[in-house]
Amino acid sequence: MPTYITTPIYYVNAQPHLGHAYTTIITDTYSRFRRLAGDTVRFQTGTDEHGEKIAEAAAKADSSPRAYVDTIAALFQETWPLLNVQPDYIIRTTDANHVETVQRILDQVHRQGDIYFSEYAGLYCRGCERFLTDKELVEGKCPDHLVEPEPIAEQNYFFRMSKYQDWLIDHIKKHPEFITPERYRNEVLAFLDEPLEDLCISRPTSRLTWGIPLPFDRNFVTYVWFDALINYLTGIGYPDDPLFTEYWPVAEHVIAKDILKPHAIYWPTMLKSMGLEPFRRLHVHGYWNVDSTKMSKSLGNVIRPRELVEEYGVDPVRYFLLREMSFGLDASFSSDAILARQNADLANDLGNLFSRSLTMIGKYAQGRLPRLGTDLLQEGDRELQEALQHMATEYAAEMNAFRFHKALQKVWEVISLLNRYIVVNAPWELAKEPHQQARLQTVLALLGGSLWMIAVVLKPVMPETAEKMARALGMEEAFSSATLDKVGNWEAVPPEATLAEVPQLFPRMEKKKEAAAPPQGTKKAAASGLIDFAQFKALELRVAQVKAAQAVKKSDRLLKLTLNAPEERTVVAGIAQSYTPEELIDKKVVLVANLQPAKLMGIVSEGMVLAAKEPLEDGTERLRLLFVDPAMSPGSTIS
Ligand code: MSP
Repeated sequence: MPTYITTPIYYVNAQPHLGHAYTTIITDTYSRFRRLAGDTVRFQTGTDEHGEKIAEAAAKADSSPRAYVDTIAALFQETWPLLNVQPDYIIRTTDANHVETVQRILDQVHRQGDIYFSEYAGLYCRGCERFLTDKELVEGKCPDHLVEPEPIAEQNYFFRMSKYQDWLIDHIKKHPEFITPERYRNEVLAFLDEPLEDLCISRPTSRLTWGIPLPFDRNFVTYVWFDALINYLTGIGYPDDPLFTEYWPVAEHVIAKDILKPHAIYWPTMLKSMGLEPFRRLHVHGYWNVDSTKMSKSLGNVIRPRELVEEYGVDPVRYFLLREMSFGLDASFSSDAILARQNADLANDLGNLFSRSLTMIGKYAQGRLPRLGTDLLQEGDRELQEALQHMATEYAAEMNAFRFHKALQKVWEVISLLNRYIVVNAPWELAKEPHQQARLQTVLALLGGSLWMIAVVLKPVMPETAEKMARALGMEEAFSSATLDKVGNWEAVPPEATLAEVPQLFPRMEKKKEAAAPPQGTKKAAASGLIDFAQFKALELRVAQVKAAQAVKKSDRLLKLTLNAPEERTVVAGIAQSYTPEELIDKKVVLVANLQPAKLMGIVSEGMVLAAKEPLEDGTERLRLLFVDPAMSPGSTIS
């Protein structure tokens, strides 16, 4: 069976980041999975290089568009090997074969009367590179770019998209798999409840020259979305290449929710107009945030794939991204979250299981995986075998449906079962009993066989780790040609393999000290006056109760406070002109608990208390402490 799977083609106005990495890693994983299932696969990614945004970015970088797109496209291409992503074809919309395909399609659609010339006045968002409808605006602004769109009136060419509205609704309703997860299918159907407008597909060269010239009017270039979507056809040689005949009927696209409308509405109607079948499936995922905040250049919290891989290693990054995001929903990236997965799921559950099992096979079976004698199986053994068969079926179903987090959950259920199986069967005890030797060999054979199957299902997700596992099991040769149907099939476990040295699959990782590694983007954030969430979290704010307060000798400004936080703290505060010591007793205040101690009038102050200050007209200031609800206990954290 053929599989054709694509990522969006990424704009070259920004460098690759976590979001691009995620989409491309899941597409790579899916393509490796389909290969494992026996398909011939074509996996395509690429870069979107025309349009206003790119022209502007090039101008900003003081570069010609051509030189600029070459530089950034190269950055994308260099990123994929770092992530172990192996596309079969990387397209650039500035490639000659793409320009030719776009012009050929424009000519065809124009000739058959689906493109017309007209005047248009509307609200244009430069960020989206499209006109927005009134309904899409939130408080008069584009909800994605938070800017007011500009009113623009000009003559342009239009694609008769509205003509295909009824057909599209019908197609979506008849094919539940066309757009998934369902929430996005519903979103598209709701949008199609309103009459669809025709699509403006040109830009006058007076305003933009960095685009593909319209073949029938050289005063215009092609609108970037009409150009970009066609990449999915160019890459397989539309219309004459045999690749096109083989792969177009099975085309699947992977995108995030931001570009749902062009893919779910523009693209199928364009295809219909060309007389082609629409793609088979559109997989839509949510957005990655960072520490629960939108990732953005201005916040200085953009995560770069190269830095991630350098810090955690490629397989933990791939595993984390697939396991952490419920496909279709947003997810939050944080170093705590990735460390937790690395230590618990990888180092502990899988890594320990692997090294324990192999060490025992080394010790109790002289490093050769015993053959499984079916006559000796006990109930727990059969349960384990069934669990692996079950895992194989469920894993395949979830991977096919793009529910990677669920597929991995299924694998980890078996990993937990295997860890329990070791405890229950205690091979080290069996080894002490001469009459239990056959039993011991069965337990070891089942452990080794199970680990082989786990290596096979992990191959699409963590290719390097899976190969390491197979090598250590002495099954490297069988592994390179392994197929999914071998999982759950005990006859297919490579027989009597000789184990190699036991590797450590994943090191346990410690949390980096903030001081040693300032949070990413700190420099940029400092320049913009913003701090990121990690910097805010570095402040330790706590509720503290005033146990005693007294004036500081020779100072009319300072009070010495003794606080219960809940350990005792002395804090010197400049509040003597606003409070008497008596009125502060038992009050609960906000303490900055991790401030370096400082000496004030000979007294060591171990922190500070927070207050609001307001300058008054007479040149003095009003100062009031921040009091906390008395119900809160001393020491409570504030965040
Ligand atoms: N050039 C268009 C796509 C044309 S496809 C015919 C474009 N490019 S883009 O560079 O903006 O890439 C958008 C895509 O990048 C998203 O659909 C998604 O795949 C990925 N992501 C960008 N930011 C993301 C997150 N924060 N989280 C997850 N994925 C995100 O739009």
